[in-house]
Amino acid sequence: MNGQHELETGDLGGLVPDMRRPQRGGMSLDEAQLLDTQRAFDSVAADYDGPRGNNELIQRMRLAMWDTVQGEFPTASRLLDLGCGTGIDALEFARRGHQVVASDWSPQMVERTRARAVAEDLQSRVTAIHLGIQQLDRLDDAFDGIYSNFGPLNCAPDLGAVAAECARLLRPGGRLVFSVMGRICPWELGHYALRGRFRRAGVRAARGATAVGMNHHTIWTRYYLPREFYRAFAEHFSLAGYRALSLFMPPPYLVDYYRRHRRWCERLGGLDDRFGALPLLRGMGDHFLIVMRRR
Ligand SMILES: C[S@@+](CC[C@H](N)C(=O)[O-])C[C@H]1O[C@@H](n2cnc3c(N)ncnc32)[C@H](O)[C@@H]1O
Repeated sequence: MNGQHELETGDLGGLVPDMRRPQRGGMSLDEAQLLDTQRAFDSVAADYDGPRGNNELIQRMRLAMWDTVQGEFPTASRLLDLGCGTGIDALEFARRGHQVVASDWSPQMVERTRARAVAEDLQSRVTAIHLGIQQLDRLDDAFDGIYSNFGPLNCAPDLGAVAAECARLLRPGGRLVFSVMGRICPWELGHYALRGRFRRAGVRAARGATAVGMNHHTIWTRYYLPREFYRAFAEHFSLAGYRALSLFMPPPYLVDYYRRHRRWCERLGGLDDRFGALPLLRGMGDHFLIVMRRR
């Protein structure tokens, strides 16, 4: 690795404003949006293990990611976590015997991961670094696998550049396992349309970065169909498969509905498990889980 990759909050890491691109306050639009997103996640890092970032519905989706990573990588693999948040996945994979470099663009999230590793005495297996997905060119290392859970890649401005950097960082035969926010989430469409909030219902249809509010901050988010997402990686990676996460089950922010109708929702979750990988259905859902192999 190239040093510590430690940046102060608000430090753009030496990114030079490109005057040909749209500007905001002397920064490129991408840079300004990345800072907004960083502030948003910094602001929730302290309680992100609670209902906002790790409720029952999120935990259920997390298990699908864990099973997939477990199936793709032999024990003691070297893994890179993109957008590790508070380190829940990184610590789980460390407990399972993997070596994990856990990276995030929010310094507060990185601190949470570091503290979690110390608390579990797993610092020898988890290295937490402050690094944005858009800064992967600063990393000099070799991994068996790269994973990213719950949408950090939806915040990356240039997926093609991410794909090229992932290919550089992976050993031959290496895999990517990503969970990404999809474009077609029937629950979301229905939930907001029924309340007359049509603009909110259609937010996933936007082209390019769209503003999503969290804790009075803005997360700049890009939504993808699985095929659309894969296109950015196709030059370097073959597609092993993808499946829907939370298609029948409500999305995580409807956890109160889930709590009121737990038995019914668990049945819906069973439908996700059985049918989520079927053609057509696999292209929908709150997130999709995609696996790619380095060519
Ligand atoms: C929804 S959280 C998911 C966190 C974690 N993967 C989990 O499963 O709990 C999204 C994470 O992506 C991080 N993130 C957002 N934009 C990023 C970027 N450009 N580079 C790296 N991480 C980013 C956020 O700071 C946040 O920790």
